[in-house]
Amino acid sequence: MMYSAKVMDHFANPRNTGVLPDANGVGEVGNQQCGDIMKIYLKIENDQIADVRFQTFGCGAAIATSSMATELIKGKPLSEALKLTNGAVMEALDGLPPVKVHCSVLAEQAIKAAIADYYTRQGIDPTPFVGELSEDCHDCHGGCDDGCC
Ligand code: FES
Repeated sequence: MMYSAKVMDHFANPRNTGVLPDANGVGEVGNQQCGDIMKIYLKIENDQIADVRFQTFGCGAAIATSSMATELIKGKPLSEALKLTNGAVMEALDGLPPVKVHCSVLAEQAIKAAIADYYTRQGIDPTPFVGELSEDCHDCHGGCDDGCC
């Protein structure tokens, strides 16, 4: 089996899918390698992620990592959600095949983009919290194993 049982579960039964109408932070990122897109909706209250939803136009690994990432940040303070890395999401899923590592970067980047959007809507410069957002695979944590970097 190429994929772990957890990846298959989150792909077949993704958690937190859809749109959050009262979201106050929305982030959308694209994967430069494959053109897939992920959108994350956050409802933030008292600096905590009260609710989260996602829409992913992408492969099974992207859907599974989106689903797991939303589970990992739900109910967490923003400071903790910002520390979530694609490596942590992959670990929670018991790993991904090396060729699919780039898919996991989408979730981390979409969450950061949604939190940046939240800060911007509050009139706060997000850069000190979120840093410079990049969709460039060469900046992803740990680099890629699929020969693109
Ligand atoms: Fe595009 Fe996985 S192949 S996100």
